[in-house]
Amino acid sequence: MENTAKSIESADRELFDNIAHSYVQKDLKPYCRIARRLRLERTLKNIPRPMRALLEGGCGAGFSADYLKGEYIQFVGLDYSQGLIDYAERYNGGKNVLFVCKNITDYTSAEQFDVIFMIGVLHHIPDPAEVLQHLKRLLKPAGVLVVNEPQRGNPLIGLLRRARKFIDPKYSADQVEFSAAEVEDLFRRCGYAVSSFPQGVFSTPLAETRLLPDFVGFPLAVLFKYLDPIVEIMVNLPVLRRVAWNIVVEARLGPREGTPEN
Ligand SMILES: C[S@@+](CC[C@H](N)C(=O)[O-])C[C@H]1O[C@@H](n2cnc3c(N)ncnc32)[C@H](O)[C@@H]1O
Repeated sequence: MENTAKSIESADRELFDNIAHSYVQKDLKPYCRIARRLRLERTLKNIPRPMRALLEGGCGAGFSADYLKGEYIQFVGLDYSQGLIDYAERYNGGKNVLFVCKNITDYTSAEQFDVIFMIGVLHHIPDPAEVLQHLKRLLKPAGVLVVNEPQRGNPLIGLLRRARKFIDPKYSADQVEFSAAEVEDLFRRCGYAVSSFPQGVFSTPLAETRLLPDFVGFPLAVLFKYLDPIVEIMVNLPVLRRVAWNIVVEARLGPREGTPEN
């Protein structure tokens, strides 16, 4: 079982090393940047600023450090793809920013973090509970772990994902798809107190694809930047939650884990 997990991880790491060059292009394409920055801002919308010590697990090419500039005191980005970390250092390195090439479960730090976040990472991980347990040690007792995950549930989204798996050889085929309830339950089982909200209705596809010409993608991204925050409020109604592409979970240490003795 452990060997299977390790081989899934090394295949995933190899995949991201191989696609690092095309992956970084998303954050260099103007309309994708708008959508990707929006996803980040909406994911962290409830977190008071400035965020002091901030850790991103699975930071990819590290553009969160740029999008959030001025909103944190210290940023640490962690990813096990050396190819992506090289791009992160090249494009987004700087004062108060540190990128580390490591598996999340191997990362230790003398300092704990006020905010830890991961965007689109958990479903790549063969044993997500192990990662959530590990992150408890890196989180300050009053800290918050925020995770944005694509949610299974909307049949159209499921269909598009299956189509992409079929036509895109670079798509990571080992990904799990969580329902909102499953991802919340995972956190609860790991001892976190959770709340969640839906994120991304029109803008998410623009964060993931560079296929549109700029003269189409750019105005759409600007429109959705203003539209999505309003629509997200509407889809927060229980019957409509599945319409959103993503679910954001805000997790805090339960009373036992949050005590200083732990
Ligand atoms: C879908 S990408 C998301 C990247 C970035 N968060 C974004 O939104 O563009 C998933 C990232 O998580 C990283 N990753 C997956 N599992 C990891 C692990 N166990 N430790 C470190 N990085 C991991 C991959 O290398 C990849 O960069």
